[in-house]
Amino acid sequence: MFHFDKQRTFLAPLAGFSDSPFRRICRKLGADAVFTEMVNAIGLTSPLFSKTKRRYVYFLPPEKPIGIQLFGNDPGIMADAASIGEELGFDFVDINMGCPMKKILKTGSGALLMRDIRRASMIVKRVKNNIRIPLSVKIRTGWDEQDNSYVDFASSLADSGADAIAVHPRTVSQGMEGKADHGKTAAICKMSTAPHVIASGGIETARDAVLVREMSGCDAIMVGRGALRNPLIFSEIRQFMNGTSESEFPGLADVILDHFDQVYAFYGEKAPTFFRKQITWYTRDLPGSAGFRRRISKVNDSEEMKSEIESYFKKHR
Ligand SMILES: Cc1cc2nc3c(=O)[nH]c(=O)nc-3n(C[C@H](O)[C@H](O)[C@H](O)COP(=O)(O)O)c2cc1C
Repeated sequence: MFHFDKQRTFLAPLAGFSDSPFRRICRKLGADAVFTEMVNAIGLTSPLFSKTKRRYVYFLPPEKPIGIQLFGNDPGIMADAASIGEELGFDFVDINMGCPMKKILKTGSGALLMRDIRRASMIVKRVKNNIRIPLSVKIRTGWDEQDNSYVDFASSLADSGADAIAVHPRTVSQGMEGKADHGKTAAICKMSTAPHVIASGGIETARDAVLVREMSGCDAIMVGRGALRNPLIFSEIRQFMNGTSESEFPGLADVILDHFDQVYAFYGEKAPTFFRKQITWYTRDLPGSAGFRRRISKVNDSEEMKSEIESYFKKHR
């Protein structure tokens, strides 16, 4: 049985990115557990949940332990969706109460639930009653800088049955801008009743992971964009936290090629289309990468994409 207290590092839920191939790469490189991207509870419980959408809940054994992240605002539908997640073999359920995107807020879901503690607590209670696997909730630290309700909010969710609270310490109005304030994560760790806290935001290196853990007192950390740039961050964190040194890690080029092979096996001939956005993250800060990305943007053939990747990394090793 999955327990939050056994995990130190999580791959964050990343819409459009944390699909089955990427989750496998991150687990292989040392992430202790992974999340799906957010899945619409209404869609999942609908008989019309289409074949294309099934891939949102598809996973393979090497990805485990894996949590399904759900969004929605109807307690009954969320409870049904969570139970489907359990039947599908997920190890834990996570509820998204932090997404600030307009299209999600419009449905009364995501971060909007931070403005309705009663409904948010009801969702947690109903979901918890419908599953035997653990439950987490991912939150932001309030609506804006003036809003200090996040500690109470975390406590309400924990008192309603959440086993862990994942905290992305930016306000909803901040979106993804500005610094993640892990002082607020620390406040949740110290002052809320959350049995377990996972810190998310701004972890780009193994050092950041340790610093965030030490300064906030969180139980585990979660990596999002840092993993999109470099999934080896999970191996680096593991090594840093264990105090061991100099294990042989694969090079980034080998990781990218391995990732592309997994993407090809999953999406077939559409692989180059899916992989382009990943390439953008992988090469963001690398020399000569703008030209490489321009060339890649026109490539629709898998073999050609692989040889472009190989020749770019040969030149820039
Ligand atoms: C492209 C992208 C997609 C995201 N999708 C989700 C999502 O589906 N659910 C969620 O709770 N958070 C989502 N987030 C937020 C991340 O999980 C994470 O909390 C945030 O990026 C801060 O962590 P980081 O600095 O390590 O990236 C997303 C972030 C990005 C950049």
